[in-house]
Amino acid sequence: MAACSSIPDFALQVVKKADRITVLSGAGMSAESGLPTFRDAQTGLWERFDAAALATPEAWNRDPEFVWSWYMWRHHLVRATAPHAGHLAVAQWEHSADVTIVTQNVDDLHERAGSSHVHHLHGSLFHFRCAQCSFAYSDEVDDSEPHESPRRPPRCQRCGGLIRPGVVWFGEMLPSEPWEAGVQAVDSCDVLVVVGTSGLVYPAAGLPQIAHEKGIPTIEINPDETPLSRECTVSLRMSAATALPILARSR
Ligand code: APR
Repeated sequence: MAACSSIPDFALQVVKKADRITVLSGAGMSAESGLPTFRDAQTGLWERFDAAALATPEAWNRDPEFVWSWYMWRHHLVRATAPHAGHLAVAQWEHSADVTIVTQNVDDLHERAGSSHVHHLHGSLFHFRCAQCSFAYSDEVDDSEPHESPRRPPRCQRCGGLIRPGVVWFGEMLPSEPWEAGVQAVDSCDVLVVVGTSGLVYPAAGLPQIAHEKGIPTIEINPDETPLSRECTVSLRMSAATALPILARSR
């Protein structure tokens, strides 16, 4: 599969004819909305912060205030941004196709763009629960600046335990419902669009293989080559906000 810097007609035709479109998105999908990815050189979160000190159950048990403050910073960042043309294009597809989004992202930009079938494999920055009894927490959270000073997580109304972000940390299992919905959506689609993911984190990175084995066309959108590129039918060296509106216009 050759890398393309413009969209070959084959890809436009596949999207045009598809009744069921599944989109697998990663942090690169939200990069043009101003949100940092995880692994991009210099700007990636894991280039600037220690994942082991922020995104593991051990880190939380060691210092919940430090972890909570960091997630309040990210919560604030997402609330201060907006979906871009790529998110809007994917939402627009719902007018003429059955579209399912399987995202690794914990932001809510797909939903804010108007997409209605979004499965969050790695949880959400906008869901909170008790770290002790898992009771859902629905009160407002304080993500106001400054974010440097550590702040205490709120307490659970049911057991008094600390409230944690509803994201999946390294070493934790993915929630089964979005995972199963994701597998189903990849297994039953007419085309899989893989956008803005480095394809390094499993089990999400294994989803394109399902489509590949079933002969379902896969279109990758990523300015850089990834381990997924050679398995994809078409790999577009383009950005999400550029390629997705062009693909959307083919319908
Ligand atoms: N458009 C499309 N792709 C982009 C863009 C863009 N504008 N900008 C960057 N990318 C690509 C990068 O080239 C990279 O391949 O997006 C990818 C982002 O990769 P990661 O930062 O590794 O993000 P992701 O694949 O979503 O990470 C998977 O790892 O840290 C965990 O739980 C976290 O969900 C995350 C998971």
